Amino acid sequence: MSTPAPPLLQASGLRKRYRLRSAGAVRQITAVDDVSIQLVPGQTLAIVGESGCGKSTLAKLVTQLETADAGELVFDGRPISIRSRSERLRFSRDVQMVFQDPYGSLTPHFRVGSLVAEPLSVHRLASATAVRKRVAEILSSVGLGPEIAGRFPHELSGGQRQRVSIARAIATRPRLIVCDEPVSALDVSVRSQIVNLLLDLQRDLGLSYLFISHDLALVDHIADTVCVMYLGRIVEQAPAAVFFAAPRHPYSRALMSSSPVPDPRRRNNAPAVQGEVEAGAISTGCRFRNRCPLAVDRCAQSDPPLDPVAPGHLVACHRAEELGTRALWTAQLG
Ligand SMILES: Nc1ncnc2c1ncn2[C@@H]1O[C@H](COP(=O)(O)OP(=O)(O)OP(=O)(O)O)[C@@H](O)[C@H]1O
Ligand code: SF4
Ligand SMILES: [Mg+2]
Repeated sequence: MSTPAPPLLQASGLRKRYRLRSAGAVRQITAVDDVSIQLVPGQTLAIVGESGCGKSTLAKLVTQLETADAGELVFDGRPISIRSRSERLRFSRDVQMVFQDPYGSLTPHFRVGSLVAEPLSVHRLASATAVRKRVAEILSSVGLGPEIAGRFPHELSGGQRQRVSIARAIATRPRLIVCDEPVSALDVSVRSQIVNLLLDLQRDLGLSYLFISHDLALVDHIADTVCVMYLGRIVEQAPAAVFFAAPRHPYSRALMSSSPVPDPRRRNNAPAVQGEVEAGAISTGCRFRNRCPLAVDRCAQSDPPLDPVAPGHLVACHRAEELGTRALWTAQLG
């Protein structure tokens, strides 16, 4: 039996709080609350959940754009906290990010050639004479011709701009790319082209992806593992095939009901999730309880831990074991 590859990135107990001032009062929001994830080399871990549940904050913690208030990040076997300056520079080369809005993430007055050359010069990856050739190679690997190097971002289509963002991300030959809703701002007609490009690059370059999306059909297509976030916490984590065949957490089931999943056998009969995520609304017990059709007294008393219900399948719900049998879903949800 082969031993599983050690994780490329391991985040343990990450927490991030923000202080918000409104109407003279200051309140705290815990955007990411005790989140632990592992990324396997060459695989895709998807993070799903409603707006405001902490997906982008988690992405920023993983890429070190934000500093966690608590928790640890280990990349390639070395904690980030003990890394030297040169090792941190190496981390910023190994871990790249692709954002939702390619226009916002590309400096508008730089030509594409300079935008793609920038990470090469920051990390000293190509000599001055070799840069032009390397930029053309990188553009070619994202499906763009060398003539694009002379254009400005505003002269490109949305799909071309996102290809340039991806070109910048792969320029450093990273090992992990954090993709925060990389296709949701694009026209539907070009989304699948960009998704296929990401899949091709993953295969060719052995990349790992932390892939944030609210589009479950897309996640079903690309993910190896799915994590569902709710108000800063992971409430379910499972191999994608297990998750889409039998999501266990009531919130996961509601999410699945409210979004189109291509395979009708995978639809479930849970009602679509009602109400809105309200950060900081619940201080004790399960944070989903005011929207959960299966809530019982126990749910108000303690926050359910994220516990295994099967190998690799974790669920944070007091009723997770009962929900493993279809009888309870059928009786309670119709
Ligand atoms: N810089 C910040 N200052 C204050 N609050 C913040 C900041 N960044 C995020 N938040 C808050 O933290 C929570 C999580 O935000 P985050 O952007 O991570 O959510 P998200 O899941 O990415 O949402 P979306 O799907 O809308 O992008 C929200 O309540 C948000 O208002
Ligand atoms: S712990 Fe209770 S309220 Fe929370 S998801 Fe499970 S059944 Fe619903
Ligand atoms: Mg976000």
